[in-house]
Amino acid sequence: MQVKSFSRPTPITGDRAATPMQRLRQATRSAHERIELALPLFDPSLTRASYIRVLESFHGFYAPLELLCERVAGPVRKELDLASRAKTPLLVTDLGAMGRTPADLLALRRCRALPKVTLASHATGVLYVLEGATLGGEVIARHLRGALGIDASSGAAFFSGYGAQTRVMWMRFAAYVDGAAGLDLDDSIAAANGTFAALERWLTVSMTSQ
Ligand code: HEM
Repeated sequence: MQVKSFSRPTPITGDRAATPMQRLRQATRSAHERIELALPLFDPSLTRASYIRVLESFHGFYAPLELLCERVAGPVRKELDLASRAKTPLLVTDLGAMGRTPADLLALRRCRALPKVTLASHATGVLYVLEGATLGGEVIARHLRGALGIDASSGAAFFSGYGAQTRVMWMRFAAYVDGAAGLDLDDSIAAANGTFAALERWLTVSMTSQ
């Protein structure tokens, strides 16, 4: 069981005047804490085998969810160049580096209980979660180097995110959300929390049954 807690920006409490990004962060704070606990990445007993299970679980979640977002993203797709932000290819690269074959990848289970994503505002909420994960990924990638001796070229590309560009990519995403015309923030927040909840459920199921 993982007990380490990582510092994140100070919460903003229920302030309607807060920016959309601040409200997304505040509304998903406890869901984020639960996800950290659901991942065994900082367990002293982490092995290559348990790390591969994490990658396979993420693949089973990201592959169908990124596809869904791509379909409904609307203006977000172009504004943020969504194709350049896809994380599924990084998971495929990592699983290959860890010895999985293309046939193994095809056989992987995919999550079907995805969050509701029918509107561009939903896609923005999902993307908040998937893009934000690249920030925690910096901490995780550093840890994986020490724990398993892997880096972006040998199995940790997903957690390495955009590498040196991670902060720039996050700032661009945040600027888009904070300036997006017509964004229904309640829909985005519901989708962000729905994403964390669906991922938490999926991790519980997939990590124990693969
Ligand atoms: C053990 C696993 C994880 C750890 C240790 C972790 C840690 C962190 C840390 C330290 C930050 C703040 C980074 C900064 O601003 O400097 C962060 C941000 C964030 N993480 Fe995680 N994270 C983990 C897993 C995840 C996962 C699996 C997701 C979603 C799929 C996620 C979503 C986010 C989001 C959305 C933010 C941005 C919050 C904001 O500033 O608005 N994290 N994480």
